[in-house]
Amino acid sequence: MVGIRKEVRIGLVGYKFMGKAHSHAYQGLSTFFQLGVKPIKQAICGRNEAGVREAAEQYGWNSNETDWRELIARDDIDLIDIVTPNNSHAEIAIAAAEAGKHVFCEKPLSLTLDESKRMLEAVRKNKVVHMVNYNYRFAPAVQFAKKLIDEGKLGKIYHIRANYLQDWIMDPNFPLVWRLEKSVCGSGSHGDLAAHLIDLARFLVGEFEEVSGVLETFIKERPAVADSSGLSGIASTTEFKKVEVDDASIFVARFKNGALGTFEATRFAAGNKNANKFEINGEKGSIKWNAENLNELEVYLASDEPGLQGFRKINCTEEPHPFAGVYWPAGHIIGYEHTFINLIATLMNGIEKGETPSPNFMDGYITQAIMEAVEKSSKHRSWEQIDQYIKQEVLEKEKVTLV
Ligand SMILES: NC(=O)c1ccc[n+]([C@@H]2O[C@H](COP(=O)([O-])OP(=O)(O)OC[C@H]3O[C@@H](n4cnc5c(N)ncnc54)[C@H](O)[C@@H]3O)[C@@H](O)[C@H]2O)c1
Repeated sequence: MVGIRKEVRIGLVGYKFMGKAHSHAYQGLSTFFQLGVKPIKQAICGRNEAGVREAAEQYGWNSNETDWRELIARDDIDLIDIVTPNNSHAEIAIAAAEAGKHVFCEKPLSLTLDESKRMLEAVRKNKVVHMVNYNYRFAPAVQFAKKLIDEGKLGKIYHIRANYLQDWIMDPNFPLVWRLEKSVCGSGSHGDLAAHLIDLARFLVGEFEEVSGVLETFIKERPAVADSSGLSGIASTTEFKKVEVDDASIFVARFKNGALGTFEATRFAAGNKNANKFEINGEKGSIKWNAENLNELEVYLASDEPGLQGFRKINCTEEPHPFAGVYWPAGHIIGYEHTFINLIATLMNGIEKGETPSPNFMDGYITQAIMEAVEKSSKHRSWEQIDQYIKQEVLEKEKVTLV
């Protein structure tokens, strides 16, 4: 079978944090999944020639490019994977779709809702497979949470309280890296962290009806970047810039199914490094998850015998837990990087079948709509109706079968 599998030749744009995570995932795919297609790490792209050559060598890519347009123009590339900062997603994704390449894009999908809409239209018009990397959905414990909810184990859902807490920019002298530069990132903790919470809430609870929130910038001015490296950077001692993105985003939501949500995303929660957490309460029980203990799902079932009731901690590393069975024997835990492998395996299955799995550009577009609604509600101290942000005709067209 291996010899006759159709190849999916990947072109990756960007080679730093997510460049490494995606490269690693492509490397691990065939070790763990028996795929119907054969992913090939064909070319990696970055603007710095020496840097991208070194990345190609270290991560095992067959070739490298310094201009994403030339990468897209190559006829030996089938899938464009975008791991560049947010302001470049739309241009690269639309060009890739127009060239007939499948597109995989990092989150948040774009800078603006209008960009997301144009990206969605481009992938549909050109009938290419598309996904957006909301990778936390693909932790086996989160997939298992979804299974429990879908099976009705929690009954009607009343609450989701989700927060994503980090602390890496609390130092006022931390420089204005691209994740704080509005023209490059669009928003701060909101698009970086709350976007993941919104996607998880849509995945687990359902569609949003309305939101109201507040965004705050605690440190109003920061040193410009003298030099940057990964998440961090060296601060200029002479130049300071106004911070135009949020440090924290807090909002409440009502879901179409009647559930209520409270959401908090911040980079100012001292001591919290990557605490992406949720608790969901239903009429028959509750679940809790925290990405810092990614394999564990805490489950409380009201049907348990009196006296033995309480949250049980399930190590989601066994066959009944989605995706866990492809890895190690029970109890042999997996990590952050495996969420990428699971999502990309799903993408490869989609490309084999000519179908677009979820989360795709429509999910990215809806998440962007919810983000914009929260931003507007913060500005106007209002409640915002999500349907007013989403073009209904875009939703109705989703049931396309791709060639
Ligand atoms: N899914 C997740 O959990 C997760 C985590 C971190 C980042 N992200 C997202 O991934 C994307 C990239 O973030 P990162 O942390 O890897 O950033 P990074 O700064 O570590 O890397 C960005 C890369 O893009 C390259 N680049 C920038 N502009 C380019 C261009 N015009 N052409 C070619 N290459 C270009 C840079 O040289 C660098 O290699 C962002 O959209 C971010 O929001 C997602």
